[in-house]
Parts: sequence; structure tokens; C-alpha cells
Amino acid sequence: MRLNGGMTQQALAVVVLAAGQGTRMRSETAKVLHELSGIPLLGHVLATASALQPEHLAVVLRHHRDAVAGVVTDYVPDAILVDQDDIPGTGRALELALAALPSTFAGDVVVMSGDVPLLDSDTIQAVVDHHRSEGSALTLMSTIPEDPTGYGRVIRNDRGDVTGVVEESDANAAEKQITEINSGVYVMNRAHAHAAVAGLTTTNSQGEKYLTDIAKALSSAGQGVSGVLVEDSWLLEGINDRVQLSEAQARLTRMTIRGWQLLGVTVADPASTMIDLSVELAPDVTLLPGVQLKGDTRIDSHATIGPDSTLVDTIVESHATVVRTHSLGAHICEHASVGPFSYLRPGTVVGVEGKVGAFVEVKNSTLARGAKVPHLSYIGDADIGAGTNIGAGAITANYDGETKHRTTIGSQVRTGSHTVFVAPVELGDGSYTAAGAVVRRRVEPGALAMSVAPQRNLEGWVEHNREGSPAAIAAKKAGKSKK
Ligand code: UD1
Ligand code: CA
Repeated sequence: MRLNGGMTQQALAVVVLAAGQGTRMRSETAKVLHELSGIPLLGHVLATASALQPEHLAVVLRHHRDAVAGVVTDYVPDAILVDQDDIPGTGRALELALAALPSTFAGDVVVMSGDVPLLDSDTIQAVVDHHRSEGSALTLMSTIPEDPTGYGRVIRNDRGDVTGVVEESDANAAEKQITEINSGVYVMNRAHAHAAVAGLTTTNSQGEKYLTDIAKALSSAGQGVSGVLVEDSWLLEGINDRVQLSEAQARLTRMTIRGWQLLGVTVADPASTMIDLSVELAPDVTLLPGVQLKGDTRIDSHATIGPDSTLVDTIVESHATVVRTHSLGAHICEHASVGPFSYLRPGTVVGVEGKVGAFVEVKNSTLARGAKVPHLSYIGDADIGAGTNIGAGAITANYDGETKHRTTIGSQVRTGSHTVFVAPVELGDGSYTAAGAVVRRRVEPGALAMSVAPQRNLEGWVEHNREGSPAAIAAKKAGKSKK
């Protein structure tokens, strides 16, 4: 339906309506700031709006004004912010937005809802082209959804021309039978729309100025009103409550995963996998069931993630494996292995061929090439040298109750099980610690640090002090069999 370049290059402005309360979400957060795939609903709409390359982009705000305005300026720094007053309704929102566009602007205006996130710019552009080729005053996008309840219904005359839109709450029984719904996305000629909004009233069941009433006003005035029926109704689905939010999320997740699969990513179980739109994946990445990838996460080729792992703002280099892990802001280098049951926190670097094993938490620490923390440990604010092995149950005592301190461990160090590093402390290259050591002072290269008192055994203690107990009986038996 794309027309010649001359027509598509006419001036365009986009108005995004985002002032509504979003009552049906029952949320302390503005409806348009709820997220799909890591991006607020409004962010999706603004990205689509920007892709139309409009001359002006205006966003209408009211509820949660400052939070919503913050997101708008993040995505479109030069957006025109329009504050809606206490006259409610989409019609009032449009009226104020049209008034806020520069008076010199005489082109077409695309109106989008902040709560219709899946609609793409190609579909809108096709409707803009249709609007222009028909020379319409107003073109609305309509669709036939599975369940039209709650939407405005499109009224057409015998010739199929649109003559109006009636809201669900104002519709009579016959009108409620209509299955073609108004999507809330429109293309309109600025001058015609400007004239039409001036005549809007609040005499309807909701006491609001309805934008949709301009369809009837323009049609009765003999202006062309057209409706473009979009076949894929999911494109136009609005998010009003959390049921619709999760349905849209499921749809977007399926599309995102399909896209990655076609680019060479193995996704074992799409139904249990979530991938934010900001995530980057390479071909031959494998995602096992139960994986969530969020934020600025990047996974390089031949890495395997999962099962059951959540990675936020995490980089995983090629050939690394990450099993049953929760990771925030970590960097996992090539051929490293993490998990199962590991917790990586911001500032963690797991070096090339490094290992973080079962029940290990690491924070703000670097493991150099081949360094390993295989079992049951807390490593915080530490630097661990190449080829070093940290024995099971190691703890960096990095916090003195007021300040955090660093632990610096050299290369090829071997620490005994259950070593405590009381930071700030340093261990030289090739040093050892004994099991249970509490390391408070610097350990020179090649030294063995021991801090546990020599073991003393009190022979016969159990038989004297726990006479007749199961332990004493067992000890007695062992004593006999020895003789
Ligand atoms: C609207 C349409 C309905 C259509 C549906 C499609 C009207 C009167 N009805 O109904 O025909 O089928 O969208 O999804 O337009 N908003 C403002 N200011 C306001 C009220 C709303 O900016 O005073 C914004 C909201 O933030 C939202 C959008 O307009 O982004 C739509 O508002 P909403 O209340 O969700 O309208 P619907 O009842 O869904
Ligand atoms: Ca809506």
C-alpha cells in the first residue's frame, strides 16, 4: 500500500496520549510505565512513533506526570510535553496536543495511545499512505478482535463509510453486536481535527470528552472518514489490566524468541524463557529451560545458559557455561563455568577458564585466568590471582561493621578449607593457608598461614562424662574391637 515517495514525505506529527489514570491496572505505577520485555509500554509506543520520523512528537501527560515525563524525555529528548487539565477524556487530550503543535505545522497528525505497545511503524505508515491517497479528514485503524468487549465500536453506513464510533458504555444492544472495534490509533488532517475537537462535549456516560466523537462530527459535516481494518488484531490490542499485560508479554516473548532462533540461538523451551529486547545473543548460544535474560545482557557464541538461571546486565563470553545461577552485573569470560546455585553480584569478573561453583556468592571481585572458587564460599571485594584455588567454605570478612575492605590473593595460591580472610589482607603468590585458618596478617609468597591452635585429644572423655550414652557405647565397642 506504500505510495510514491512524494506523498510519504509530507509533514507528519505524532501525538501520544498518555495522561489517563489507568484505573484498571490497580497500581501505584502509571499504566504506561508498566514494562513489556524490559521496556515501559510508553517506551514501545515512543520507539514506534520515532520510527515514523515525525517533524513533531507531542505527548499528553497528567497522572503520574513527572514519572511519565521522565520516560518521555529519556526516549525522545525533544518531545513536546503537553499537560492535560482537569477536563477528562481522550478528546480533551487531543485538543490540547493540537494546540501545542507549532502553528506553522499544517500536515497530518498520527494519534497513538500510550497503552497500545505492539503496533509497528510499517503498519501505521501504510495507514498514513491510505489516508493521503483517499484524501480523508480522518482515518482510524480498526480490527476484529476475539472479544470486542470494552472497545469502542466502529459504525459504518450501507456504503461502508465510517460514520461514527460508539463507546462500549454508551452503546445500545445492537451496537454492542458490532465486532469491528476502534483501535485508538488515527491519522488526521490537523486543520479538520482542530475544528472537530472544538465541538466536543462531555455529555456521555463517562462525562469525558471523547476523541472518538470527532468521527461522527467530521462525517456529518461531509468530510471523508475512513477506517482501515487491520487483520492481525493483536497488533492493536490495548493494555488496560494485568491480564492483557501478561498476554501481550507472552506474544512479544514468542516473537522475540522466534527471531533469535532464526538467527541461530537454540532455545530449548520457549515457554519458560524470557528475553528482554535489550539483550544481545550470538549464533550457537544455547538457552536451556527456565532462563531469564534481562537488561544489558550479552551472550557470546557457544555459551550455554541454564537450566533455571536469571542473568541481569551480565556478559557471558564464548564457550562459558552458567547453570542454575542468579547474576547481576557480572562478566563471565571465555570457557569459564558458573553454578550450579551460584550468586554473582555487580563487579564480579570470572576469568578465562575460571570457576565459581555450588553455593558460592561473589561480589565486586575479580578472578583471574583459571582461578577457582568451587564450593560454599562468600567472596566480596577480593582480587584472586591466576590459577589460584580457594578451598571449600572460604569467607572474605570484608566488612568491619562500618567500612568494606579488600582481600588481595596472588596467583597459584592454595587455601585450605574454611579459611577466613579478614580484610584488608594480602596473600602472596604461591602461598598456602591451613584448614580453618583465620588470616589477619599478610602472608608472604610461598608461606603457609596457620592460625588454628594445635589439636588436643582428651582420651576417654566420653566414657567418663557421658556414661551409658550411645556415643559411649559405640566408643566402648570400638575400643574392644581394636584390642
Ligand atoms: C479508547 C477509545 C476506544 C478504543 C480504545 C482502544 C476513546 C473515548 N475511546 O478507549 O474507542 O476502542 O481506546 O484501545 O477514545 N488518555 C489521555 N487522557 C485522558 C484519557 C485517556 O491521555 O483523559 C490516554 C490514556 O493514557 C491512554 C489512551 O488515552 O493511553 C486511551 O485511554 P483509555 O482510557 O485506555 O481509553 P479506552 O477506554 O481504552
Ligand atoms: Ca485503553
